[in-house]
Amino acid sequence: MKTRVIQLSLPVLTAFCLWQGCRKTQADAPVTPFTLEVPQGFPAPTPVFRDNPLTREAFELGRRLFYDGRLAKDGITSCASCHQQFAGFATFDHALSHGVDNASTTRNAPGLSNLAWYPELHWDGSVNHLEVQPLSPITAANEMGETVAGILKKLNADSRYRELTNAAFGSPEMDSQRMLKALAQFTGTIVSGDSKYDRVQRGTDRFTPAEEAGYTVFKAKCTSCHREPLFTDHSYRNIGLPLQPGLDDVGRMRITKLPSDSLKFRVPSLRNVMVTGPYGHDGRFFSVGAVIEHYRTGTRPGPTLDPLLRNGLSISLNEKSDLVQFLGTLTDTAYLRNPRYAEPR
Ligand code: HEC
Ligand code: HEC
Repeated sequence: MKTRVIQLSLPVLTAFCLWQGCRKTQADAPVTPFTLEVPQGFPAPTPVFRDNPLTREAFELGRRLFYDGRLAKDGITSCASCHQQFAGFATFDHALSHGVDNASTTRNAPGLSNLAWYPELHWDGSVNHLEVQPLSPITAANEMGETVAGILKKLNADSRYRELTNAAFGSPEMDSQRMLKALAQFTGTIVSGDSKYDRVQRGTDRFTPAEEAGYTVFKAKCTSCHREPLFTDHSYRNIGLPLQPGLDDVGRMRITKLPSDSLKFRVPSLRNVMVTGPYGHDGRFFSVGAVIEHYRTGTRPGPTLDPLLRNGLSISLNEKSDLVQFLGTLTDTAYLRNPRYAEPR
C-alpha cells in the first residue's frame, strides 16, 4: 500500500510565499471576521487558524468548494459525496466510500466535527494540518483523482468563483493557498457541541436512568481512550482487531515505521456515533452494539494490543444496552441539520 504523509511545514510555506509574493488580503477589502464557536466545557482549540484568519467570505467559499464536484476529475465526486452532513459527515451506510472511476477507499470515512481540536488527522495521523488535508483526497487516484492545477483552471474560468474569491481574498484569482485556506475554514469550523450529553453537562437537561447507567459504565471502561468532551484522547491504539485480508492496513506503523505501532489506529471521537456507521477504520462493524461486543469477547492478543484491553472489557449484557443508550445522547441534531454546513444554493 502506498503511504503518503502530508505535512504543512514552515520551509515549504516560506518558499510558497516567495513564489506567490505572499499576497495579503487587502486592508480595505470588506471582509467579515468571525470567531470559532467553542462550546462550553471544551478545551482550547489548536492554533489551526493562526495564519488563516476566519472570515464569513472565506468560509462561504470553502463551503462551496466542499460541495463542488469539480474538485474531482469526474466533475461529480465532491468532498460531500463521501462526507454527508446527515451522517455526521461520514459516508452513510458504507464501510468504504466510492471515489472516481468506481474505485473504493481503503478506509472508512470518518465523521467531521470539532477538527479544530485535532492535533493530527486521518486514522493513522498521516496529516499534520487541516490546511493541507485536502491534498490527500484531491490527488488520490481512488478518491478525486485530480490535480490542484486542474482544479484551479476550472475554478478560475467560473465568474461566480472569481466573485467569491475576490470577496474573501481581495482579488479574483483562485490559487492553491486560497483554496486550501478556504476549505480549512469550512471543515475546521464545523462544531458539534449541543447534544443531549452536552446539555446534561451544562445542567439544562437530564439523562434517563438507562442513559445515566450507561454513562457510569462509559466513565469506568471507555473514557481512558474516548476522553470527554471530544470523546477521543487523539492517541493511536490497537484494540485487538485481526488484520483485514486484502486491506492489510497496519495503521500508525505506516507512518512511523515502528513495529511497536503496528495495528494502532487513532481513537475516533464518538460524537454523533449513532449516525456515522459503519464503524472502525475499515468499517467492519455495522452497529455500535457489535463494537461493544468486540470489547467484551473479541479482542485478539498480540504484541501491540493495548494493555487496557488485555483481558477484553468485562461488560454485562445490561451494561451493554445501557452503554448504547448513553451513546445515543451524543447525537447532536442541531449540528446534523445546521444550514450553515449544508450545500450552498
Ligand atoms: C472518496 C471518498 C472521499 C472523498 C471524495 C473525500 N474524503 Fe475526506 N476522507 C475519506 C476517508 C476514507 C478518510 C480517512 C482517510 C484515512 O484515514 O487515511 C477521510 C478523511 C478526511 C478528514 C480527516 C478527518 C479526521 O477525523 O481525521 C478530513 C478533514 C476530510 N477527509 C476532508 C475532506 C475534504 C475537505 C475533501 C474534499 C477536498 C474530502 N475529504 C474528500 C473519504 C473521502
Ligand atoms: C484502549 C483504548 C480504547 C478503549 C478502552 C475503548 N476504545 Fe473504543 N476505540 C478505540 C480505538 C483505537 C478505536 C478505533 C479502532 C480501529 O478502527 O482500529 C475505537 C473504536 C470505537 C468505536 C467505533 C467508532 C467509529 O466511529 O468507528 C466505538 C463505537 C467505540 N470504540 C466505543 C467504545 C466503547 C463504548 C468503549 C468502552 C466500552 C470503548 N470504545 C473503549 C480505543 C478504545
